[in-house]
Amino acid sequence: MELKDSPLKDLLRRRPRICVLSGAGISAESGVPTFRDPDGLWAKFKPEELANFQAFINNPELVWSWYQHRIEVIRKVKPNPGHFALAEMAKLCTEFTLVTQNVDNLHQRAGQPEVIELHGNIERAYCLDCNTPAAADHLEKLDENQRLPRCTECNGMIRPDVVWFGEMLPEESLRRAENSAQNCELFLCVGTSGVVFPAASLPFLAKENGAYVVEINRQHTEISHVMHETLIGPSGEILPRLLAEMNHP
Ligand code: OAD
Repeated sequence: MELKDSPLKDLLRRRPRICVLSGAGISAESGVPTFRDPDGLWAKFKPEELANFQAFINNPELVWSWYQHRIEVIRKVKPNPGHFALAEMAKLCTEFTLVTQNVDNLHQRAGQPEVIELHGNIERAYCLDCNTPAAADHLEKLDENQRLPRCTECNGMIRPDVVWFGEMLPEESLRRAENSAQNCELFLCVGTSGVVFPAASLPFLAKENGAYVVEINRQHTEISHVMHETLIGPSGEILPRLLAEMNHP
């Protein structure tokens, strides 16, 4: 894929202040299912039964078994060239912020220096009652005893550290993400359908504040109209191309 002559090409060569918002699509080439593609999770499972607080209270075993399955999938896969290209870009730019909606830890495993997690991280869990982070072996307990993990401090129920439908995003993460969107020169929206807010408001915020806004996706999305450019294709191919442009002599 060749980048046409555009403001994007010039911007990349200057190594501008960049803010990236990533979604499930960036991990698709690693083998992690997305949510809203035809073979995505929400085509097979009902979010109201698995990804909200009441569902967890009603049937914690079911919700935990679903998360346990997803954790097993994620631990077997590897970051792809898209994740690695972003980690390299972060090293080249003096100001680079990666904001992700993904809970799969693949940016971190690719060596991304800092990741703002808007929807939590599937590898973590905490106590519903006292907020104490769960011990790292809470999943093994789930395996051995087929019982729910319990808090070592107060015996409360342990829940995955992810944001469910209807829940607030972590305040500090959202504040930092908005701040970075407002202050960047180039905003990249990678592999997200752009239908879940407030994450999807970040490209709007960036554009209002003068950033050049570019989408990288296999197809056009609900938020394509806000973009200065949409690059259609797999992020695992397009992001290394953008990185190469930054390294252009
Ligand atoms: P979606 O499943 O809604 O969207 C994935 C996007 O990735 C789609 O627009 C695809 O076209 C695109 N895509 C697929 N493969 C790609 C590839 N190889 N390269 C580039 N793009 C590709 O996932 P998100 O937008 O991340 O929330 O969904 C947002 C939130 O909805 C998730 O964080 C999750 C979900 O409910 C929570 O869990 C709170």
